[in-house]
Amino acid sequence: MKSSQPKNIVILTGAGISADSGIATFRAADGLWENHDIQEVATPEGYARNPELVQRFYNERRAQLLEPQIKPNPAHFALAELEAHYASNALGHVTVVTQNIDDLHQRAGSKNVLHMHGELLKLRCVKSEEVVGWRSSQPVTTADRCQCCATPQPLRPHIVWFGEMPFYLEEIDYRLNQADLFVAIGTSGNVYPAAGFVASARRLGLPTVEFNLEAGSNASQFQQAIYGRAAVTVPQWVDALVRR
Ligand code: APR
Repeated sequence: MKSSQPKNIVILTGAGISADSGIATFRAADGLWENHDIQEVATPEGYARNPELVQRFYNERRAQLLEPQIKPNPAHFALAELEAHYASNALGHVTVVTQNIDDLHQRAGSKNVLHMHGELLKLRCVKSEEVVGWRSSQPVTTADRCQCCATPQPLRPHIVWFGEMPFYLEEIDYRLNQADLFVAIGTSGNVYPAAGFVASARRLGLPTVEFNLEAGSNASQFQQAIYGRAAVTVPQWVDALVRR
């Protein structure tokens, strides 16, 4: 290993990495939040008011994710290759922290993936919080019930809504503390705590790199920026790292 080779890498991904797979981002002009009211479909209050509307919103997302043409793109595959290369050569640990609720990192072969905003293909009992898989484009209805409680309870999307605590924050903090490099790919830097990871990485003295189509809201905090489509820029970066 050369001295310039980072050992442990934390890679934060956002909607931009899945854009090249045909999944709409949130904040683009034609993005999801342009056509849907966040308060109605992505808050606990919205779910309490109208669970049918919320289930319908996520049913549509899930059905789209399971369409045959939706596949991981070269950026997802490159990150999986990087993780496998690091593991098989005992170079260090690659962690993908994703804000995405799709499963494209796993489909590409990544194993160390922390879904901090939850997962579309899982549901959660509203009472016991037990998580169950729902890998089907069959719609979830408000009549669907858990099998874990004595009195079967509704199943909500296993998604972190606005106002809720993201998952894996302790593990992410641990991984950042172990890391030698922090990379963010395809995220606009608008949603915290993820948007604050670059500041944490800087405090820890890590080099930081942003891959994006255009500068994100927190672009000034990154030491390096690589602009372009993730499906092009990420494989180039991984190639250079793997061949060092
Ligand atoms: N390659 C690289 N970056 C891209 C591409 C692409 N092909 N297409 C779009 N982008 C960039 C956009 O320029 C933007 O900076 O990806 C980013 C997407 O930003 P958002 O739509 O805001 O998505 P994200 O940052 O992941 O949103 C964070 O907000 O609503 C919540 O929970 C939701 O996890 C989501 C969180």
